[in-house]
Amino acid sequence: MLLGAVRCVIATAPLYRPTMPRTGKPFSVTMTNCGGLGWVSDKDGGYRYQATHPVTGRPWPPIPPVLLALWDALSGYPAPPEACLVNVYGADAKLGSHADTDELEFAAPVLSVSLGDVATFHVGGTRRSDPKVRMRLHSGDVVILGGASRRAYHGIDRIHPGTSDLLAEGGRINLTLRRVMLR
Ligand code: SIN
Ligand code: MN
Repeated sequence: MLLGAVRCVIATAPLYRPTMPRTGKPFSVTMTNCGGLGWVSDKDGGYRYQATHPVTGRPWPPIPPVLLALWDALSGYPAPPEACLVNVYGADAKLGSHADTDELEFAAPVLSVSLGDVATFHVGGTRRSDPKVRMRLHSGDVVILGGASRRAYHGIDRIHPGTSDLLAEGGRINLTLRRVMLR
């Protein structure tokens, strides 16, 4: 059910490849979003949230009810997320260490769901130089960065190809639910 809903989101709001602020270097991950706001990045505009898809110019599709129910059950936050970032990782994709700081609301956690191949995830402290722990995220795993870890540095070191048969095309999908605006 969740995967079907994600496929519908991607059919409406196609995956695209963001670029890094200033350098314009392409991400190895492709992305799209659902929700009233979506997280985007490009050379000229940098990291930001916006209400429309940067390629189609259309509003993002709504967040599927199954994800809103997961947020209600696990977030401990009394309002819904406005943003769900969909990250798609091929066999060689990575996501460099970063903290999620483009939101206005930090009282809400960031909640992410992994689908498909296993990934090596790292999480550290609020300074880039803080020690990191590494763990393997499997399909169906949920990570919540909340409280003291809300602004923790985290990233994806590598994908382990062939470790799940959920996605016919292989690779991994990660869904990140975020509250952007203050209540
Ligand atoms: C992210 O930090 O945007 C995604 C993390 C993940 O893929 O697990
Ligand atoms: Mn993140």
